[in-house]
This record gives sequence, structure tokens and C-alpha cells, in this order.
Amino acid sequence: MKILAIMGSPRKKGNTYQLTRKVEENMKQLDDVEFEYIFLKDLNLKTCLGCQVCFDKGEDLCPLDDDRAILEEKIHKADGVIFTSPTYVFNVSGLMKNFIDRFGYVCHRPRFFKNAIILTTSGVGTGSDLIMKPFSLALQTWGFNVIESFDIIKNGDPNSKLTTPVKKVNKKVKKTAKKFYGSLRAGRPKASIMSMVFFLFAKKNIKEVNPEFYDYNYWKGHGWLENNADYYYDPETNLVNKGLARLLSKFIGFVM
Ligand SMILES: Cc1cc2nc3c(=O)[nH]c(=O)nc-3n(C[C@H](O)[C@H](O)[C@H](O)COP(=O)(O)O)c2cc1C
Repeated sequence: MKILAIMGSPRKKGNTYQLTRKVEENMKQLDDVEFEYIFLKDLNLKTCLGCQVCFDKGEDLCPLDDDRAILEEKIHKADGVIFTSPTYVFNVSGLMKNFIDRFGYVCHRPRFFKNAIILTTSGVGTGSDLIMKPFSLALQTWGFNVIESFDIIKNGDPNSKLTTPVKKVNKKVKKTAKKFYGSLRAGRPKASIMSMVFFLFAKKNIKEVNPEFYDYNYWKGHGWLENNADYYYDPETNLVNKGLARLLSKFIGFVM
């Protein structure tokens, strides 16, 4: 089992790394799990130019010549991915944000249908709650099933009331490692009602765009625009859930 840990801190051996290592140690107690750490700091991942060529013409035509495609290949090869970042001024780190932006085209053309977890650390806990939602949403639009996300406060003073107690951290890490491992053993994630709603809503929007549009062809090529497509792949769910997802997506479309 291969896990890829994408590290968003410029401090390679900092708090976020230490937390991730704890998850690794716990997972290795469960099975023969292979970990690979990618430090965004070391990667040649240039700043997004905002040209939108990846959206309009395809990511292969991105004018930036760097390691983006190599990183995408690594994500494809992993069974599960851990995304990590310190909290920087109510947000993820600049390194992590640039990584998310450089993979912006995946929001339009999802492809990573696998399980993931998010780990963050903060100095005093301010803003960590704010970053989880957009962080997790970005990954979900890429196809990931985010099974767990949590932040620990590591303000340097172990006796500070603000620091997450070691016992609590260890308990959470153990639980997360077990849950993540279990999800990876179970294989491709089953679709929840909400993820089907999201798919159906996106499908409706894509169907309405110009068929010349790059995303339209991607969706069509995958068979996702077919009337009977409820999800990117067989959602392995019952007819009631499928019907509910269709109703909800219609309702959202109507309200919006
Ligand atoms: C530029 C910068 C901004 C930060 N902003 C916040 C913040 O908004 N809230 C917070 O609780 N901690 C903040 N911190 C503290 C870090 O999130 C915290 O120390 C984190 O554990 C560092 O992780 P690392 O050791 O993996 O780099 C900030 C630190 C830096 C350097």
C-alpha cells in the first residue's frame, strides 16, 4: 500500500512533518505501508500565471515548464494521499495554495478517485477551522474522498493551555490512521449522496456549455454526460440514494 504525503510547510522537519510521521508510524503498525514524502518546498512548482490555458486548452499546454506533471503522476500511483499544511494567517501556506491553484484544472476535470486525509498544525489555533472547508472542498472537486481532517495546536510551550495535549493528539492520530488504512483496504470510495449530487450538478452545467469546450469533451469522453451516469464510476449504492441525489441536484439547480 502506497501513501503519498504532500507537505505544504517550508519547514521540512517542523510541526506538520512531525504530525504526519506519527500517522505514518501508526499506519505501519497496521500493515506494510510505504510512505513517500513530497516537500512542495523542494519541488519545481512555479507560481500559477493565471492564463487559464489549462482550463481552456488542457493542462499539457500550460506554459510553465516544471514538475507539475510528475507530481500528478505520483498522485495517480498512490493508493491514498495525505495533504498537509501549517496555518498561515487564516489560510493554508503559500506553497500549498500554489499547489492547489496549479491543479485548478482538476476541479473541472476530476481524476483522483481515492481516499485522502488532511493534516494541519497551527500556533494558537486561529484560522485552522477556516482553512479546512476550502482545503477539503478543493480536494473533493478533484475526486478525492476526504475521510478525515484535523488540526493540532503546537505553540512550542508544551504546558500552554493552547497546545493540544499529547494524549489527545496520539488518540486522534491512532483513530485517523486506522480509519485511513481501513478506507484504503476497502478500495475505491463508495459515492455518498452528496458526492453524487455534486457530480449531477456539475454534469448539468457541463452539458449546457459549448461542445467545443475542452471540459465538455473530457466529460463526454469519460461517458459522464450519458443520461444514466449517476457518478464518475459505479457509485455502488441503491436506487433510493440515486433517486434522492437526482432530486437534490435538480432542487439545487432550480434554486441557483
Ligand atoms: C507566516 C506565518 C503565519 C502564521 N499564521 C498563523 C495563524 O494564522 N494562526 C495560527 O494559529 N498560527 C499561525 N502560524 C503558526 C504556524 O501555523 C504553526 O507554528 C505551525 O505549526 C507551523 O508548522 P510547521 O512547523 O510545519 O511549519 C503562522 C506561522 C507563520 C510562519
